Amino acid sequence: MLVLAIESSCDDTAAAVVEADRRRVLANRISSQHDIHRPFGGIVPELASRRHIEMIQPVVAAALQDAGLTLDDIQLLAATQGPGLVGSLLVGFTFAKAVALARHLPCVGVNHLAGHLLACLLEPLAPDFPYTALLVSGGNTALFRVEGPAAFVCMGRTLDDAAGEAFDKVAKMLGLGYPGGPLIARLAEHGDPTAFNFPRAWLDKERFTFSFSGLKTAVRNVLPANGRPDAAAIPDICASFQAAVSEVLVEKSLLAARENGHKRVVLGGGVAANQHLRVQLAKRCREEGLSLFLPSPIFCTDNAAMIAMAGFYAFQAGEISGPDADAYSRAHL
Ligand code: KG4
Repeated sequence: MLVLAIESSCDDTAAAVVEADRRRVLANRISSQHDIHRPFGGIVPELASRRHIEMIQPVVAAALQDAGLTLDDIQLLAATQGPGLVGSLLVGFTFAKAVALARHLPCVGVNHLAGHLLACLLEPLAPDFPYTALLVSGGNTALFRVEGPAAFVCMGRTLDDAAGEAFDKVAKMLGLGYPGGPLIARLAEHGDPTAFNFPRAWLDKERFTFSFSGLKTAVRNVLPANGRPDAAAIPDICASFQAAVSEVLVEKSLLAARENGHKRVVLGGGVAANQHLRVQLAKRCREEGLSLFLPSPIFCTDNAAMIAMAGFYAFQAGEISGPDADAYSRAHL
């Protein structure tokens, strides 16, 4: 089944064409908005929706051209319905519904988190179900029991910041720029992860819940009063911060897999592109005899190929979105 998928939940306008039943990506286009948000150190929602409006048609056209197809070949439309910035979501979701209506095609609204949880299915070596998944992005940090391609049980999520948000905020404190995750990761390569003993929030009573606000405050507390850290200390701060985030993510994921009796662990979301996290999780999974499935970095950050997969399975499970279906900013999976 040929699926045309659209993702516009935040600051990337993305379109993909996927032969979903064969899990074959024919086109995967992403137009990033980092340039317009960078001067503000974070995403400005109004600017994001305006850029989505400018980019949605050319990005979809480019994806179809990459795939060597036209709309006549498409059998299903899928688009992110939520959660995310509602102005941004409305652009992509409305576009998909309009194309579906004009072409007499089915359209399915997709939960963005389902996309991240299924991104690993786009890899040549994909996991069977069930599996335990850690979702770590700019807007979410949560552990899921994935029982099937349209059956997700949330085991726990963050009480405050998402892991990616913590990366972005710490990068801002250090004056590094936006988005902070990749910048911190690069500087951490030259730092000592044991230089600062930053706190790990284990939250013993809520074993699958996360919290990163204390860690963020601990980083602020090692900065001088004028807020400008010594340039030589920055790589050590980055490496120590990254180590603290990763250790909690890794250990809680293993605990969740053990609790579920699962042998397979899956990573998804923008922070899953972090090399340190990938290496540490791989090492611990090997030690515990678990198989780890990591999406390629291009399928970790926001993309429409993962939305095509989630849309395909939701459609198979009987879901469909009519023209009056609305985008949602907050609904949990
Ligand atoms: O999944 P994503 O593209 O968007 C959301 O749905 O949130 O994730 C974006 C987040 C940002 O917070 C960004 O700083 C973080 O993922 N990120 C990283 C890395 N690459 C992206 N964080 C740590 N290390 C990276 N290499």
